[in-house]
Amino acid sequence: MKQINNHETDVVVIGSGAAGLSLALSLAEHCSVTVISKGSLKEGSTLYAQGGIAAVFDKKNDSIESHVEDTLAAGGGLCDRDAVHYTASNAKACLKWLIEQGVPFDMEFDSKGKERYHLTREGGHSHRRILHAADATGKAVQTTLVSQVQSHNNIKLLENYNAIDLVKDTECDIQPVKGVYVYNRLADKVETISAKFVALATGGASKVYLYTSNPDVSSGDGIAMAWRAGCRVANMEFNQFHPTSLYHPELQNFLITEAMRGEGAHLKRPDGTRFMPDFDEREELAPRDIVARAIDFEMKRLGANCVYLDISHKDKDFIIEHFPTIYAKCLSVGLDITKEPIPVVPAAHYTCGGVMTDFNGQTDLQNLYAIGEVAYTGLHGANRMASNSLLECIVFAHAAAKDILSKLEKSQAPDGINQWDESQVGNSDEEVVITHNWHELRLFMWDYVGIVRSTKRLERALRRVELLQQEIQEYYANFRVSNNLLELRNLVQVAELIIRSALERKESRGLHYTLDYPEQSVNPTPTVLKP
Ligand code: FAD
Ligand code: SIN
Repeated sequence: MKQINNHETDVVVIGSGAAGLSLALSLAEHCSVTVISKGSLKEGSTLYAQGGIAAVFDKKNDSIESHVEDTLAAGGGLCDRDAVHYTASNAKACLKWLIEQGVPFDMEFDSKGKERYHLTREGGHSHRRILHAADATGKAVQTTLVSQVQSHNNIKLLENYNAIDLVKDTECDIQPVKGVYVYNRLADKVETISAKFVALATGGASKVYLYTSNPDVSSGDGIAMAWRAGCRVANMEFNQFHPTSLYHPELQNFLITEAMRGEGAHLKRPDGTRFMPDFDEREELAPRDIVARAIDFEMKRLGANCVYLDISHKDKDFIIEHFPTIYAKCLSVGLDITKEPIPVVPAAHYTCGGVMTDFNGQTDLQNLYAIGEVAYTGLHGANRMASNSLLECIVFAHAAAKDILSKLEKSQAPDGINQWDESQVGNSDEEVVITHNWHELRLFMWDYVGIVRSTKRLERALRRVELLQQEIQEYYANFRVSNNLLELRNLVQVAELIIRSALERKESRGLHYTLDYPEQSVNPTPTVLKP
């Protein structure tokens, strides 16, 4: 087979969200970097982040220890304390780095007229410690980082490139990773990228559920690729459901930030009564798993399509100042949040598990890193605390950059990569197989592997996933690749990992609640799956 590299680089970063772009910027002074993104450079969960990023800026009332304790409590006894401590201690430096890049976090004046960062609050946090840019923090972070990478000479940007699989010399586990096959969507052909180091920054997998706050690109590609290449994954059963996604026929996948509850919004039943005080003493500011389950319980008990989030008791100017995006978006479909409650439902939001890494973002495979939502670092345990995710992206991007740079001088450029072989495949004859299987997969994941699970439901889902896997594998072997086929192949792989992990956990903890094992076990450990 002819060996040819379409692209050669020191480091290829797969993904252009907060994690990928932070890594690229931290490396680019010292080596060549290629960043690829499946869609446009901006598209990814980062762009839609609302609430903010957690870090201790209020030294007088808050502390790193308190950030650590809150994260451990939200994580339901399954966080790695060292990972939590490492992240919280590096938080302020990472936020300062973002500020240096130009991210315009909201400011306010203190009682002495001195300017400081405005800190908001979210569930699980015992203090105000969330830096934010109104209710569109992700947009501020993403557009700032994009403009930085666009002006950097050492960074090559490849948009509309879908990474298919990692390349090693043989399938043998100990072979270092030396590049990646990528599908150039615009040219409709597969190309090769050879690199000394490969970093997965592909985000999460919440698209595996029918209802999600995530954009289409969140199809778990990095997790599936790493698994196929031989990496371990951990804690895949802990998929976080955000309690408050807008319930409206004309506006789907739109999140209503938890910061709204942080600023005093109440959750209400359709009859206008509050229910969170019946479920947890922290009321609306209990961690997400508790709030999402309470909403699910009330909706099922009352046969209601949604519950309501009400901030209309607050001053109109306050609401518009703090939540301008949500105010405008809701108003565009005729909903005035300053006057009426917002209909909300839970939606799949965040993948707490992922590719296992150390504190440098290094995976099980030599030369392969994983950072951001694709990774499992031990930070989130059984339930991620709000605003710790963007933080993790930056902290581990910086750590990975440091580690890669320390190894760069001694590393050799890899040999050529075998060209992609299309001699045995034809053009797809029935795209309906792909669209049908997409829908079927996401529907049964929602119904059987959602907020409340049972062994019977999980086994039912596993049987269906295995059937889909056979069908999709057959399709993949016979037809040329397309974006939808690649995503479906990855989603069905991730679905299997979620279900198998959920079946292994014989207890209820954090985001994993099963009717068959409602109690917590005494000595919980992460669920680790090996290929
Ligand atoms: P992403 O930002 O999702 O980027 C993934 C990148 O990988 C994209 O560029 C995508 O195109 C690319 N990609 C994926 N697969 C491939 C492939 N096969 N080939 C090439 N490229 C690929 N967290 C917080 O801490 N605070 C918040 O306020 C907050 N609010 C949120 C609000 C919403 C609506 C959502 C959805 C999430 C929110 N989160 C928040 C979570 C947080 O935004 C994400 O966890 C974080 O942005 C993930 O960043 P990332 O860089 O890992 O991935
Ligand atoms: C939100 O703004 O509610 C999302 C915050 C997060 O997911 O961390």
